Amino acid sequence: MEDRIITGLSRDDDEVRADVGLRPQTLAECIGQDRVREQLRIFIEAARGRGESLDHVLLSGPPGLGKTTLAHVIAREMGSQIRVTSGPAIERPGDLAAILTSLDQGDVLFIDEVHRLSRQVEEILYPAMEDGALDIIIGKGPGARSLRIDLPSFTLIGATTRSGLVSTPLRDRFGVQCHLEFYSVDELSDVVRRAGRILGVTVEPGGVREIALRARGTPRIANRLLRRLRDFAQVRGQGVVTEPVAKAGMDLLEVDELGLDRLDRSLLRHLAESFSGGPAGLETLAAALGQETDTLEDVVEPYLIQIGLLERTPRGRQLTAAGRRMLGLAPAQPGGLF
Ligand SMILES: Nc1ncnc2c1ncn2[C@@H]1O[C@H](COP(=O)(O)OP(=O)(O)OP(=O)(O)O)[C@@H](O)[C@H]1O
Ligand SMILES: [Mg+2]
Repeated sequence: MEDRIITGLSRDDDEVRADVGLRPQTLAECIGQDRVREQLRIFIEAARGRGESLDHVLLSGPPGLGKTTLAHVIAREMGSQIRVTSGPAIERPGDLAAILTSLDQGDVLFIDEVHRLSRQVEEILYPAMEDGALDIIIGKGPGARSLRIDLPSFTLIGATTRSGLVSTPLRDRFGVQCHLEFYSVDELSDVVRRAGRILGVTVEPGGVREIALRARGTPRIANRLLRRLRDFAQVRGQGVVTEPVAKAGMDLLEVDELGLDRLDRSLLRHLAESFSGGPAGLETLAAALGQETDTLEDVVEPYLIQIGLLERTPRGRQLTAAGRRMLGLAPAQPGGLF
């Protein structure tokens, strides 16, 4: 079914569409994140039992771990409608006021990239989250009056790849805060098997493991690798993703045994060759690699840190002892200026 080629879709749209088809619909269907799922299951059941909206939920974690997926799952488990928007899309306070006043009782409002809301927009959100009310100022100067409008009860779900950039007053108003962690190889194996079933592609156990090992702890990457290997298996193999097919396909995709891609490797190599292993400032590295600092911070670094090759220090990014070994650098000299 996924083999149909729809013209007019860019690769990215295509990927988003394919991703949506693979999204788990219920908490039971979700793989991994056991603690987060267990917490949510309890809070949802309790809220439903009382006939109330779920408290506001903040979902944080690196890209592709399932924040958007969970937001939809939560809405579905609550039996609620979901309204979707994002921090950068809400430009003015009035935009948010319009969204809030159009909500129905019990709705879920999902704000992606919630750390990118402007200060003025956030101020509208505080009373809405806390008291279920909207404070509007009418007029200007001494004659200005403040008007309070009651809102239907709703659940705000905020998602962010950068929990450190969510302001404290906003963060404090989320009653439920869930941080998503990278997935284990076993969990990613389940993700690959599930996606294989949905896409109708046979993946042998060796192929499953190979993908799971190289997916950077991230279901979105596991799904993407599987789709590319399916292409590879169809053209170069018998349509089955065996271990050799998976390995040969990954070589072609330039994804190595650790799941690192070209950008990961060039960051590490740059640190090793141009900065003797670091420390180097983020801006300097980004400029050298021709990348945005956000891309390095959100997408590249978290996994390199997770697997212990890179560390963030007050003086900048630097290779760990393991990172130095991998890149063939001598161990760092003990610290000190002399
Ligand atoms: N728990 C899960 N079990 C199985 N598959 C999952 C799970 N979570 C996410 N996925 C898969 O990974 C894909 C990416 O997830 P999602 O879009 O929710 O990530 P995200 O955290 O919102 O990423 P971003 O920060 O880029 O918005 C989904 O389309 C889904 O196929
Ligand atoms: Mg998302």
